[in-house]
This record gives sequence, C-alpha cells and structure tokens, in this order.
Amino acid sequence: MIIDGKLVSEKIRTEISKRVQKLQSQNIVPGLAVIIVGDNPASQSYVRSKQRTCEKLGMYSEQYDLDADVSESELLTLIEKLNNTEKLHGILVQLPLPKHIDESRVIEAIDPRKDVDCFHPLNVGKLTTGVEGFKPCTPAGIIELLAYYEIELEGKEAVVLGRSNIVGKPIALMLLEKNATVTICHSRTKNLETILKRADIIVAAIGKPHFLKADMVKEGAVIIDVGINRIETGLVGDVAFEPVQQKTSYITPVPGGVGPMTITMLMKNTLEACEKIAFDAK
Ligand code: GUN
Repeated sequence: MIIDGKLVSEKIRTEISKRVQKLQSQNIVPGLAVIIVGDNPASQSYVRSKQRTCEKLGMYSEQYDLDADVSESELLTLIEKLNNTEKLHGILVQLPLPKHIDESRVIEAIDPRKDVDCFHPLNVGKLTTGVEGFKPCTPAGIIELLAYYEIELEGKEAVVLGRSNIVGKPIALMLLEKNATVTICHSRTKNLETILKRADIIVAAIGKPHFLKADMVKEGAVIIDVGINRIETGLVGDVAFEPVQQKTSYITPVPGGVGPMTITMLMKNTLEACEKIAFDAK
C-alpha cells in the first residue's frame, strides 16, 4: 500500500486552517519568519514552498534573503530582532549555512519558544527526555503518517538509516517513545544488510538515490523514504521504489510521501507557538 502524504497533509492542513481562523476572530495571526543565507537552489525552493503554505493557511510570513557572505554577527542581530517582534511566533533559519557561520551559535540564538524547527538544544533536550514541546517537522510528519495508517510501533524492530540532527537522531527518539526497538545505522555500520533484514520498519534518511534495494528488506516491512535526491530523471528517494514496493506492506513515494508532511508540521508548530505565546503569557 502506498502511503499518501498529500492526502494526510491536506487533512491536517484543514484542521490547522480552522484553528488559524479561530485565532483570527480574536485578532491574532500566527507569524513565521524564514531566513535564508546564500543562493542554494534546493533551499530556495523549500523556502518558497513554506511561504506559499503560510499564505494558504492564513498565516503571516516574512522572508529574509541574506547574501552568502553575511557575517555571523549580522545574522545574530537579525535573530535577536525577530525574537522581540511580537507578530512573529516562529523563526526558521534554513540550513545548511555557509561555512564561516557557526550553525550552533545561530540555532542557540533563537528564542526556544519560537524554535519551530525544534533545533535549539533546550527543545532537543525536551524531546530526548520525553517532556512536552516542539517536535522536529520531518520526524513529526513521519509519526503522523504512521498513526494515520494505524501502523503499530510497539515492540517492532525499527531501523533508521542515517544519523543527522534533522531526521535520523530525532526520528529514532520518537520511535523509541512509541516503544519500538530502534537501531540507528550509518556509513560505518557493519553488517548493515543483516540489520535491515530484521526490520519491521525502515526509515531511510541518508540522501543516496535508490540506496535501499529489494534484497535488503524483509517481506511485509514498512518503508519510510525521507530522501529527496535530484538526478537526471528528476527527484528520487533513498529507496529503489518499484522493486522494494513489491515486498512491503506500506511504503512512502517520493515525491508525495514525507515531503508534504514536513511543511505541514512546520505550520502546525507555528500555530502552536502562537497559541502558546498568546494565551500562556496572559
Ligand atoms: N534544511 C533541510 N531541512 C531543513 C529543515 O527542516 N529546517 C531547516 N531550517 N533547514 C533545513
């Protein structure tokens, strides 16, 4: 069965839109600031998509396009200003940043209450210890997809391919929170195929086109493909979709699987940041 990320995404967006309208009736509009540094075409395309979705859902958004040679202190000053801007409830700095900028310093400068990516160490700590708070967008989208299709996680063998801070590590924690038995594999993993073969669920997030082949997966496994790789024929995932699909119970396509969910969860985080700031502060 093919997991339809567009369908699930639309359903969640409808709910978000209703909550936004409810806030608007009280003269509150959720606002998101997106900062992009340099002219990475993939980043620009993601950021455009984030802005468009904000508009569609009735949210306010601001975009800051900074030159690739902007100084770290200029970027930090901008973040400080946005932290103190009342109409903004979410701040997102598109990664990666140019090499001369210290990514950790930038992330730590964001007010944790506006950290809709869930990259700030305070929010990562909450995620790690199971305290309520923001959930990172792509992993949160994956959990929503699994929930929508009523895919059982408790006691299941989950294998995460990739150990990035954005996807691999947090999705591993979130699957653990759902009582799965989780293994994280990476470029130095030995016996990768043996580990993959026992997986009930595989999350592929390594950025290697068509890496996961049919002979690496167990019959009936659930496959979540987070890869977005541009090759000559277009966008493809980390999974060799056609052959792998034959063996799986559920699989996400690329595009139309995890992708639409990431932006939807960003909108949800922005809405919730707004609700929290608007109502908790009073
Ligand atoms: N770069 C790739 N994915 C992401 C993301 O989810 N958020 C941000 N800020 N940058 C990214």
